[in-house]
Amino acid sequence: MNNEQSNEKILQWLVTAGADETIGETPVNRFALPAQTKQPEKAFSGERTADIQPSSPIENHESISLAQNASSLEELRNMIAGLNCPLKTTAANLVFGAGNPEAKLMIIGEAPGAEEDRQGLPFVGASGHLLDLMLGSIGLKRSDVYITNILPWRPPGNRKPSENETALLTPFVRRHIALIKPRVLLLLGGSAVAALMNTNAGITKMRGRWLTYTDADISVQAMASFHPAFLLRTPAQKKLAWRDFLAVREKLNA
Ligand code: URA
Repeated sequence: MNNEQSNEKILQWLVTAGADETIGETPVNRFALPAQTKQPEKAFSGERTADIQPSSPIENHESISLAQNASSLEELRNMIAGLNCPLKTTAANLVFGAGNPEAKLMIIGEAPGAEEDRQGLPFVGASGHLLDLMLGSIGLKRSDVYITNILPWRPPGNRKPSENETALLTPFVRRHIALIKPRVLLLLGGSAVAALMNTNAGITKMRGRWLTYTDADISVQAMASFHPAFLLRTPAQKKLAWRDFLAVREKLNA
């Protein structure tokens, strides 16, 4: 194998591993960096935590006070579009939200994937297809619900949201919820639960129980469930998600 062929193999391997975006103009030799300069952000360790304990999330006070000024979905969208967030530089589109703004059920996921990034709409890829089937199983269509994500831009390579990104963007999700005023929230996956319920407990611990989401002047019943992407990889867990969706159906009918 000559040099060119082996470089191509390395590139293919990187793309397969999810590193499919360039985020700098100049190459960086990370092998040459001293070990102590590499400081990974503290990862959310939800799945391994046994007890449900409130976490002390970092807060972005500028975001919190800015988000409160949005008095309509359009204002909120423009506000988010104007944020100075590095994720914007790698994403193709802002994925704000979609569905029925009068919906009783608001669904919140983690972040757009590749297809959502291309279309500028939430849950339109493989996870979205599964979500449609799950909603259909409790008699709901897309037009019956409103959907958004914790992050409105795709993180490069579909990595997990960082703590700083979550702190910057969660106040806008909170405002989104306040503007939609749903009767029920469905939080899909650990990132949505961690961001909105201020907990370190993982999704396995949190799913399947009614939680109370509170903000300044609202209180909404929230069900946490597995993320459809997780269910695609772990189909045996679908039966638990099915129970969660049935509970949501019951609550909406009550
Ligand atoms: N996963 C999410 O959490 N949100 C999307 O919009 C798509 C995939």
